[in-house]
Amino acid sequence: MKKAGVAILGLGVVGGGTYQILTEKKEYFKKTQGVDLTVECVLEKNIERAKQLGIDDARIAKSIEEVVANPNVDIVVEVIGGTGVAKTFVTTALKSGKTVVTSNKELFAKHWPELEAEAKKMNAGLFFEASCVGGVPIIRTLQEGMQANKILSIKGIINGTTNYILTKMANEGSSYEEALKEAQRLGYAEFNPTADVEGFDATYKLSILSSLAFNKKICIENVYREGITGINKEDIAYGKEMGYTLKLLGIGKDTENGVEVRVHPTFVKNDDPLASVNDSFNAVHLVGDAVGEIMLYGRGAGALPTGSAIVSDVIFAAKHDRFFYACFENNEKGNKETKFVGDFTSKYYIRLSVKDTAGVLSKISGVFAKNNVSILEVKQVAVEEGKAQIIIVTHMCNESLVKKTLDKLESLPEVFAVQGTIRMED
Ligand code: HSE
Repeated sequence: MKKAGVAILGLGVVGGGTYQILTEKKEYFKKTQGVDLTVECVLEKNIERAKQLGIDDARIAKSIEEVVANPNVDIVVEVIGGTGVAKTFVTTALKSGKTVVTSNKELFAKHWPELEAEAKKMNAGLFFEASCVGGVPIIRTLQEGMQANKILSIKGIINGTTNYILTKMANEGSSYEEALKEAQRLGYAEFNPTADVEGFDATYKLSILSSLAFNKKICIENVYREGITGINKEDIAYGKEMGYTLKLLGIGKDTENGVEVRVHPTFVKNDDPLASVNDSFNAVHLVGDAVGEIMLYGRGAGALPTGSAIVSDVIFAAKHDRFFYACFENNEKGNKETKFVGDFTSKYYIRLSVKDTAGVLSKISGVFAKNNVSILEVKQVAVEEGKAQIIIVTHMCNESLVKKTLDKLESLPEVFAVQGTIRMED
């Protein structure tokens, strides 16, 4: 039977879950996978936490040097997060020829090429299933399950915190601030929620996933990013009345005109499978030219779900002697030949606060017509004497034309404000 020694760097929520699975399921993995996995040591500043998990002093390493000097350690699991010590520790492990398994999306999205170069030099494995969409096996699906396909698109709810917030705003009519507070109380959102609510976390994940899906290095800088902090509950409610649900989507498309990668709040039709992915759940929808549509759904965070993804990598690594790396040119700056779509097309939801007098609607629709933006749907609501809200849904059109239309609308005396502009996805 193959044996492998594991070191866990960081015993936070995910480190604890990983330790628990590896320890409690040792016999199960021997029987079902033919691998005997042992947690040889951990690296954790909080000794009490290690003790709580039942780890004795002898297995608590004092430094990364001690971890990599241990000949029984084959696989180093990094679950510290961030790009500080985590980067130093991962690099040290790879330089020592240890295989690394990480859940660190920020580290991976920012430094994948240099980490991979270190791994290649030493024929070490570099695994990152847990970096994207937690327990959902999206990376293995892309790498091991869809080789026969050219992947045409990847679309998903890849951040659970924002999905929880948007679900609460939709179902309970909460404001963004109220929903965020509740997400923080429940431990979904951090005390500083920026990485999640401004879309950085989803951007890191989309850059990794779209690189794998399209076999081209997609850097973070290539991903258009917009978070959910500007979303009003009114827009969610109007959208709902019109048959749409608001989600923060990561969207990647490989089209004839180039690659399109973006993270932004998006209305999807209520009957779109992504519309029913609620609370902190994640889901990814893929389209391959051979298989057609695939959808994966599950928990994108948490001790055991993320631990599940890490242990899956540990088992994969333990079973293999040769490792494979990205099949594309994995450069920090991407590949010069890759063409990106700058002015992408989308449908739009636009909400205007306007003067409620004769001729206003025709003046507004004239601005759309002049800019070649075709209207699909219009709804008008009288909010108070002399004031109305107009909601316009456009057909597919270029982003640049919508910008021109909005600029012109904002200059009209009859338009008090453009109160919401949200992209839509069919
Ligand atoms: N903060 C992430 C989320 C979980 O809310 O989905 C880990 O990426």
